[in-house]
Amino acid sequence: MTNSVELGELKLPNPLMLASGTWGFGETLPRKILSSVGALVTKGLSLEPRTGNPPPRLSETPCGLVNSIGLENPGFEVFRNRILPRLLALGPPVIVNIFGESEDDFFRLAEGLAETGIAGLEVNISCPNVKKGGIAFARDPEGVFRLVRGLTSVWERFFSVKLSPVGPVEEVALAAEEAGARALTCANTYPAMTVDLSRGTPRLHLGGLSGPAIKPLTLRLVYELSRKVKIPIIASGGIMSARDALEYLSVGARAFQVGTAILIDPEAPRNILSELDVALKDR
Ligand code: DOR
Repeated sequence: MTNSVELGELKLPNPLMLASGTWGFGETLPRKILSSVGALVTKGLSLEPRTGNPPPRLSETPCGLVNSIGLENPGFEVFRNRILPRLLALGPPVIVNIFGESEDDFFRLAEGLAETGIAGLEVNISCPNVKKGGIAFARDPEGVFRLVRGLTSVWERFFSVKLSPVGPVEEVALAAEEAGARALTCANTYPAMTVDLSRGTPRLHLGGLSGPAIKPLTLRLVYELSRKVKIPIIASGGIMSARDALEYLSVGARAFQVGTAILIDPEAPRNILSELDVALKDR
């Protein structure tokens, strides 16, 4: 089995994490897949329930997927009482992706999750699909410093800040590190769009692009950032195969997330892990 990996104080059985938002809250993937991975990163969680954006929410392109879900989720109470116990029982460490419209939302979520047995937080400052919060945080290095510093006083364990691939990425990454982030997730989806011309009036769909199209772009970001920061980088961006994962690991990522690949083939995480195992043994 692929080697365990350490992200500061967080030890994972293997470096493959399921990316936020791509496996629901555990209802979309078989148990055997969920329990084989290094960590489960939940869908974005907000304090209050969110209904998300109107359709269309997904469009396919030949090289990736555009989503505009808008962080639909049942809110903190339902998550903590009904969903989290089920996720914790699956085995792998559970990392909760938290989303807030204000700094205070993030602090309250972190406080509420403190005694729940989760392994850590992924602080989502980079969703491209919401009007308040989201990517606006990731455009403001000083705001990120304040947010992360504030979080360290209510959350003392592992947390990773999920960066946007656009905006002042390096400044934001350095601000997050200086303020006390334990890791960086690099990165969220790219602001993008599709236009459907098949119905007379063009139908525009604005959202975040994931999948193979963004791999060379995010790979470059991971490469650049790994030369600037000392905290571990968790790569996320178009990993469809063990080879993609190895590329990210070879340019400085410590762990990696698989997302869009699962929507195409639910067995992708297990296949990637077993191929990675062979590749790492052959090195
Ligand atoms: O592409 C994304 N879609 N990134 C996020 O952080 C959240 C998600 C959504 O719910 O829109």
